[in-house]
Amino acid sequence: MRSNSGRVFVAGSINMDVVAKASRHPRVGETVAGQAVHYFPGGKGANQAVAAAKLGASSALIGRLGADAFGQQLRQFLAAQGVDLSLVKDTADIHTGTAVITIADADNTIVVVPGANALVSAEDVAAPVFSQGDVAVSQFEIPQATIAAFFKRARAAGATTILNPAPALPCGPDLLDLVDILILNETELGLLAQTELHDSDEPARFAEAARRLPTASGKIICVTLGKRGVLALAGRDPSLIPGRAVKAVDTTGAGDCFVGALAAQLANGTAIRDALEFANAAASICVQRMGAAPSMPTAAEVAALSR
Ligand code: ATP
Ligand code: RIB
Repeated sequence: MRSNSGRVFVAGSINMDVVAKASRHPRVGETVAGQAVHYFPGGKGANQAVAAAKLGASSALIGRLGADAFGQQLRQFLAAQGVDLSLVKDTADIHTGTAVITIADADNTIVVVPGANALVSAEDVAAPVFSQGDVAVSQFEIPQATIAAFFKRARAAGATTILNPAPALPCGPDLLDLVDILILNETELGLLAQTELHDSDEPARFAEAARRLPTASGKIICVTLGKRGVLALAGRDPSLIPGRAVKAVDTTGAGDCFVGALAAQLANGTAIRDALEFANAAASICVQRMGAAPSMPTAAEVAALSR
């Protein structure tokens, strides 16, 4: 980490992921026998904060846990990854966020029950003191009014704001106008741009959809395309950074790895094009491991890919 680096502040969810691995996903109304069950630390906010910390940034999480056993386990895990938890509150009378995940053929389905994450408030995000060069990151597993308050404060101090509008939820220009960098997959882009997209669409189709987003032009938009990589719209021409050819075992948290890695690189002063390449490489490591937060790579692991 450089001594004059900015910090990464992530306002977001913290979940325990209860993961069942099976040979295929059940159809509606069907039961299938699973092969294994795992309890992995997760939640989009926590995953992104862990990625940023392991990739060399000073990373602080703002969020809420329930006062229960999952909450204690998550706090212990996140502290061990080097994430600053001084702004994570334990909250009485509500459970820690929990995601019920099925993995089959490296692909997942997720039901997320927010619990304490739904209580992350504008007051909670008033605590961090931002400086120019810091990066403020959020996602849609905490209330949108909280995200807006967080980004307003960040911007007022000259920090860069990154929104990962996941899971896909409607949102208007009031919030999108507070965003410098938008990172989203094709489902989220389709919903926000009100157009139907498929993961096999040509890059030009995603670029056209991005132009329909209900927000002022000028922001950087990154459309993550799974194994196809990422389409970056920064300046005049879209550029596709191809995905690395790897054997994916569990893609849960790949988007979060990308977001946390990009935030860490920008906080450390890396130029956007290099930061995108780095994040794409980092996420290709994440998909080769089981679990969300535990699958985030270190900076040394990403560096080893370019040797
Ligand atoms: P998730 O919701 O599963 O966390 P996402 O839909 O938000 O993922 P993706 O677009 O699937 O995000 O993936 C994010 C990034 O991860 C991609 O842009 C790419 O860099 C990397 N990635 C994902 N899947 C693969 C893969 N199979 N092979 C290589 N890289 C991958
Ligand atoms: O993006 C992956 C995350 O989404 C999982 O860790 C799960 O907790 C859900 O929030």
